[in-house]
Amino acid sequence: MIKILFVCLGNICRSPSGEAVMNALIERNNLRDRIACDSAGTIAYHTGEPADARMQKHAIKRGYNLTSIARQIKLNDFERFNYIIAMDRDNYRNILALDVEGKYKDKVKLMMDFAIEHSDNDVPDPYYGGEQGFEYVLDLLEDACLGLLKHIVKLDLEQK
Ligand code: 4NP
Repeated sequence: MIKILFVCLGNICRSPSGEAVMNALIERNNLRDRIACDSAGTIAYHTGEPADARMQKHAIKRGYNLTSIARQIKLNDFERFNYIIAMDRDNYRNILALDVEGKYKDKVKLMMDFAIEHSDNDVPDPYYGGEQGFEYVLDLLEDACLGLLKHIVKLDLEQK
């Protein structure tokens, strides 16, 4: 089983959406027994909360049901997951800072490095912005999750 952890700041907007978009692709490609997803935040502030209501509203319009409950990333996530996917470069730096010995740095990747159609480096934080910010998060995630799925199929699943 290939395990992916999507990580943003609060775990209530971008990473729960990444998890839901990826799960939809996994379902559509019948890879349920090969790839599993979870999400976490670099901060604990929203721990125990469901996804942001605005994010949920935009996600459901595209058929994504955000079911995850926020939690903070923890040290044993580095062991448990094959891919730790940061939504932006701040998240990326904050995740790497937790891995003090640098043992797991090859597992930590930037979400937008997998995008096919967008050249953005970050999935921008939509929290303090307007409606279009949430739509744009979903546009970027649909692109990057497809790229990530293709990457995993090629690197981890094809010859196994
Ligand atoms: P997320 O969005 O990192 O995509 O979940 C945010 C959620 C909460 C905050 C910032 C960004 N906050 O400042 O509480």
